[in-house]
Amino acid sequence: MKRYELPKLKYSFDALEPFISRKNLELHYTKNHAAYVNGANNTLEKLEKFRRGELEIDVKATLRDLSFNLSGHILHVIFWESMAPPNTGKNIPFGKIGDKIKEDFGSFEVFKKEFSSAAKTCEGNGWAILVFDQFLNQLLVVQIEKHNIASISGLKVLLALDVWEHSWVLDYNDRSKYIENWWNIVSFDYAEKEFSKLSF
Ligand SMILES: [Fe+2]
Repeated sequence: MKRYELPKLKYSFDALEPFISRKNLELHYTKNHAAYVNGANNTLEKLEKFRRGELEIDVKATLRDLSFNLSGHILHVIFWESMAPPNTGKNIPFGKIGDKIKEDFGSFEVFKKEFSSAAKTCEGNGWAILVFDQFLNQLLVVQIEKHNIASISGLKVLLALDVWEHSWVLDYNDRSKYIENWWNIVSFDYAEKEFSKLSF
């Protein structure tokens, strides 16, 4: 049986301090992210039992659960990859992704403004993500509510910022401050690696 797994973090729980505390990161990873992995796996199990005729399920509700939990899992995997300890030299765009951000947004500052604005204005819990649209060969900033609402299918996610309350409430009084501080620990390593595979 195929099952999703919580990936190992590439840094320790205290590596993103003082911008994200050890306690916050540990809880976020071990409780919140783990819950989405378990949720996705539980849904897979239900679907397998349904196919074997062992369980009656509400298909619509089950697939909605799968969309929420699996999107939550995938976005968290990319969120962890989108961060690194401060002053690693990866905190500003470089390489091919650096050039593409400049080409599509005008400058890193303009991109930052649009991405931060998407994060700050997200209604309730959600995400700001940077995606690559291979159809028009362009980068886009996308705002997602929850894990899956207003998401655009089929586009490659290169960078993700979690603005769910669970990602900041232990460390900050308001979400805007968390978003402003997040740029100190952003990493463009994953974005560069993934974008390089897609661009020629
Ligand atoms: Fe989260």
